[in-house]
Amino acid sequence: MTAEDEALTGGMVNAGAVFRRGELVDRPAPPNARALHAYLLALKRQGFDGAPTPVSLTADGREQLTFLPGDVALPPFPAWAMTSTALKSVGSLLRRLHETNATLAIDSAAEWPRDLADPEGGTMLCHNDVCPDNVVFRDGRAAALIDFDFAAPGRPLWDIAMTARYWVPMLDPASAAALYPLGLVTAARLRTLADAYGLSAEDRAELPAVIEQATEVCRAFVARRVTDGDPVYLKALAERGGWARWDRIQTWLTDHRETFEAALLA
Ligand SMILES: Nc1ncnc2c1ncn2[C@@H]1O[C@H](COP(=O)(O)OP(=O)(O)O)[C@@H](O)[C@H]1O
Ligand SMILES: [Mg+2]
Repeated sequence: MTAEDEALTGGMVNAGAVFRRGELVDRPAPPNARALHAYLLALKRQGFDGAPTPVSLTADGREQLTFLPGDVALPPFPAWAMTSTALKSVGSLLRRLHETNATLAIDSAAEWPRDLADPEGGTMLCHNDVCPDNVVFRDGRAAALIDFDFAAPGRPLWDIAMTARYWVPMLDPASAAALYPLGLVTAARLRTLADAYGLSAEDRAELPAVIEQATEVCRAFVARRVTDGDPVYLKALAERGGWARWDRIQTWLTDHRETFEAALLA
């Protein structure tokens, strides 16, 4: 590290370990970094410009990727990141990523992480962690996705469910108020995201249930981190209201399933 290195804050998994070094980002390499770099290079070859380009992998277990200029929203999320235009741009960026992913074969020899993966599996690589701190904005619109560490095979619908959790957000009003601007109308925003992505009627009918499934997977992820004594996750869980918050979110999702189905299909 030199004096020019700038610590990049935002994520939780690699908190304190991500640095900007001029045009590059230097961060801990995930275990499957080789396969992930090959995938990111394939995205670039296919003309997808909304992801970092991998540059190197070092012997000390770190990786270097291109730094993507722009704005990244960090919690509590600012109003500019939660406009309807922003939401639409996230939906269309995810669609572009998926269209490119659909043209690529998944490296079946690689061990894709199960942490946030679709339990039902799939034939396409999902990003799985499209939260605000993993999206770079330019001029109020989502321009790129970063942090592909949790990418794994899954259904496209799974990635949309994960994205909806963070960007609509799919949280009960009290949980949303703690991290998001006030006044976001859940059902309408879910519909906006589905429209911007171009979600099929079949997938719309399934989306609310898949969001519930994705919420369970995220809860289990946090539970594993907490059991392992991860200080970042212990602190976040305590500050945000413990397991009672997760119970509340899950009850709220089930209670409103029909409202969301109706908004998606109307
Ligand atoms: N390639 C990149 N271009 C621009 N900003 C980046 C890039 N990689 C990381 N960042 C910034 O650093 C923050 C943390 O990096 P990230 O790799 O997402 O860490 P974590 O794995 O902990 O989530 C991001 O939220 C973003 O603000
Ligand atoms: Mg991140």
